[in-house]
Amino acid sequence: MPGQLFNSPEKQWVRRRLWLPTLRDFHSRFLGEIKYLTFAGPQGHDLELFAIQQKLIRIENIRIWENAPDVAKRLVQKYGPALKIKQGEAFDLCKAKNEKSFFPFHLVNLDYTSGAFHVDQPRRLPTKLETVQMIINNQEEHATSFLLFLAVAAKADVDNDLGRLFVQKAAFDLAKRLGKTEPLFDLTRDLAKTYPETLATIVPCIVIRMGGEHHFDTHCIGKAVYRPYRSAKTTILSFVFNLEYENVPLTLSSHQSMKLFDESIEDRQRKACALQLIDVNLKIPRRRRKIRSKQLP
Ligand SMILES: C[S@@+](CC[C@H](N)C(=O)[O-])C[C@H]1O[C@@H](n2cnc3c(N)ncnc32)[C@H](O)[C@@H]1O
Repeated sequence: MPGQLFNSPEKQWVRRRLWLPTLRDFHSRFLGEIKYLTFAGPQGHDLELFAIQQKLIRIENIRIWENAPDVAKRLVQKYGPALKIKQGEAFDLCKAKNEKSFFPFHLVNLDYTSGAFHVDQPRRLPTKLETVQMIINNQEEHATSFLLFLAVAAKADVDNDLGRLFVQKAAFDLAKRLGKTEPLFDLTRDLAKTYPETLATIVPCIVIRMGGEHHFDTHCIGKAVYRPYRSAKTTILSFVFNLEYENVPLTLSSHQSMKLFDESIEDRQRKACALQLIDVNLKIPRRRRKIRSKQLP
């Protein structure tokens, strides 16, 4: 039997050991019903776990964005009309007027399987990061704190030259401003070995900056790397962020309030750099790994 799509033992570990405890903790402190925006994939394994098995979220409170029409159709057939599925590209949907009316959410899961920095033409921001920024923007309009799960591919070849310029500039900034020199150093060496670690440092610092600029005290509270089914072709980074909305005094100028946020942005970035990157492949028991690899063609 071939390995199931989006359900490797490593992905299951991320769902159960990284996402679920974070959601449980949020749920235990939250009064009200959690609204969830996700890419559920063809089988909806995340909503099976959070809504059907653990009952932390009601199916009616889940909104799915899915760009593949066949996958969207399959989800409708599996879960029926209670589940709200919007077919389309997340980059377009995060800006669509109609979709904005469904905000705010308390958990947003952008579970990508491609690179964060790939761009086809010069842009101010790569589209995935602009999607994150728009979502933060939409949440800010409702002054609503939320959890963000973000996954991206991290093999050395996932981001093209144009995209890698963003990575180099960010690495340079972290070296200069925070004295964090490894990403810059590693980019000049063996990318195949070091690119996941480099992105594991850079991506959280970008999200923390975006959150801070929209009045969210943003913490990276988890980061993990895995190769699904120990594949040589795919490496995925999975991040967990907590974005706490901070009301700023209405008497402060935007310059003064940004100055306050600047200090905390730097502190949160330092903490994110110091946070351990969990290697999920090392967490999967050896026997289970062997069984899995035998099952694969
Ligand atoms: C990795 S799967 C989701 C797995 C699910 N979260 C889980 O825990 O099992 C990602 C899904 O999102 C869809 N997708 C990927 N990029 C997208 C985008 N930019 N916009 C909308 N849907 C996207 C893919 O077609 C796929 O079905």
